[in-house]
Amino acid sequence: MRRNLVPGKIGIDFLDGYIFSEMNDLLMSEGMDASGLYRYYTMRLDGRLGGILEYEHDLANYVIEHCQGRRIVEIGAGLGELPIILALNGMKSAGVEFNEGRQRAGRRVRERAVNCFPEVGEHYEFIAGGYPEALVDTAWTGPDVTLLFTNVIASWDRARTEAIDAFFPQVGEVILELRMFGVLRDEEAARQQLFDEIARYAKSAERLPELSPAMHFARFTF
Ligand SMILES: C[S@@+](CC[C@H](N)C(=O)[O-])C[C@H]1O[C@@H](n2cnc3c(N)ncnc32)[C@H](O)[C@@H]1O
Repeated sequence: MRRNLVPGKIGIDFLDGYIFSEMNDLLMSEGMDASGLYRYYTMRLDGRLGGILEYEHDLANYVIEHCQGRRIVEIGAGLGELPIILALNGMKSAGVEFNEGRQRAGRRVRERAVNCFPEVGEHYEFIAGGYPEALVDTAWTGPDVTLLFTNVIASWDRARTEAIDAFFPQVGEVILELRMFGVLRDEEAARQQLFDEIARYAKSAERLPELSPAMHFARFTF
């Protein structure tokens, strides 16, 4: 049976292909560095890993199922593939990105998505800047906001790392991947230590081992 692309309910598998094609167009027209795709997204294309990775697919499904009615902000959104999926499934979303090249790419991907699906323009905001300062004095704080951190192995200095954690109570909820938060934590003891540190000042904390295979997501409420 033929399925149409129903506003507010566009299947993740379709979007996987759609985003792959948009990324590939950017790479072909502008090249790896000028486009802002850099090595990370170029390798995803070369490896034919699709427009979204398995953990993005699993997290999108989890958020669509468990975070209805909430506003979702992905920190370190890159090209914004996750917030676009959420926006096309009826959620209000934003993506924060501090790298200028990636901002260029993220804006382009958003513009192209708006051309295909105008509701993306209403539902998804791309925020150029670094978290947490980029969210200060914006509408993206408050108890109905959920922050997502997936793969953000960034070289945050001590001040930024402290500011990142200190901002959590400005929102209602944070879902983060413990292994790839700031630095790589391959040892379970290091992941548990990060979980315990955040849990100490959260209202509630749970680990979500079932969310995605081989990933280490945790959910905290504030
Ligand atoms: C490896 S990419 C991952 C993109 C996508 N979320 C994913 O999982 O595939 C991480 C991105 O996070 C961005 N980033 C890291 N720390 C950030 C911060 N504090 N604020 C905004 N962007 C950040 C980096 O510039 C980079 O583009």
